[in-house]
Amino acid sequence: MRKIYIFDTTLRDGEQSPGVNLNTQEKVEIALQLEKLGVDRIEAGFPAASPGDLAAVNAVARAVKNATIVGLARSREPDIDAVKEALIGAQDPCIHLFLATSPIHRKHKLRMEKEQVLENAERAIRYAKQYFDKIEFSPEDAGRTELEFLCEVTEMAINAGATVVNIPDTVGYMTPQEFGNIFKTLKEKVPGIERIQLSAHCHDDLGMATANALAAILNGADQIEGTINGIGERAGNTALEEVALTLETRAEFFQAKTSLHLSEIARTSRLVSKLTGMVVPGNKAIVGANAFAHESGIHQDGMLKEKSTYEIMSPDTIGLKESKLVLGKHSGRHAFREKLIDLGYEQLTEDQVNAAFGKFKDIADRKKTVTDEDLRALLEEKMIDT
Ligand code: KIV
Ligand code: ZN
Repeated sequence: MRKIYIFDTTLRDGEQSPGVNLNTQEKVEIALQLEKLGVDRIEAGFPAASPGDLAAVNAVARAVKNATIVGLARSREPDIDAVKEALIGAQDPCIHLFLATSPIHRKHKLRMEKEQVLENAERAIRYAKQYFDKIEFSPEDAGRTELEFLCEVTEMAINAGATVVNIPDTVGYMTPQEFGNIFKTLKEKVPGIERIQLSAHCHDDLGMATANALAAILNGADQIEGTINGIGERAGNTALEEVALTLETRAEFFQAKTSLHLSEIARTSRLVSKLTGMVVPGNKAIVGANAFAHESGIHQDGMLKEKSTYEIMSPDTIGLKESKLVLGKHSGRHAFREKLIDLGYEQLTEDQVNAAFGKFKDIADRKKTVTDEDLRALLEEKMIDT
């Protein structure tokens, strides 16, 4: 199985979620949990953004021992100097340089011709190479960049000294086929591509960030960038827990795996949600409250007979205790009876269970979910009745 490197940018792109602001202590707490999770690389921030972020990146760099610590920089010397200062004390430092390459960004944002983009990026990589062995270069908005030019940019980055070339779908515009094709083309056409790692960085504007990251893996990507819970600019980034659990659950298909300690996923998700204030939607894949909850009678009956009928992965893989059978109006007699046994009412007769089940359905028609307390009240009343 091929190893897929996990580059976590919760503390940088994740922090770019509107309304999120992490202080130094919070960044360190999340970084230490990411280290426990086993991510390979942690992008701790953008040191040139503010003195506070520079200090926070430095605190992360000093605290984390078992992951590469990355600082982001635009392709200009003061940004590179800021990353150099921020990564003092890091066991394994890496700088992440970026410069936009797409026609839209070249024309409206940079006001540069292709040649100037190539020159500026090359100058920045060569300047950074004096201080860093590990350099990641991102052609920003690679997804909307002419493929031929993207090949040229990638070749320049390799020759100038980049060790990773990251392909960002900055605006979440790509479809999996198109994004996969970028990787295939780079692998086939760029001389020296085998000397570096290729990385994918996807945004979720059209809801395809995870699918695009997986397409990149199928076409040769060595590294996936993303965030915990998929937080990030606008609609967010690739959710790393989704990529990790897909590779785990569909290992035979992908023939690739991460080195993550998957049982740390639920804990990491809760910590990131708590410290960023970004609530995880109930139906969020892998880490949502409903990801391992079953409400319908048909599904609950199947689960009680054999879990694999309705669960493709087990909650304990991500560090949760067990699946939940939630009682609601779609629930059936089988799950209801199991619940009564759980609550200690195993001595009820068949008639008593049936009568209680009828009352439970009345309550379920009025309430979205029926709690243990509702059931106890119903049962106590029922036992007095009989
Ligand atoms: O989405 C993006 O293009 C980025 C770059 C800085 C890599 O976050
Ligand atoms: Zn991004």
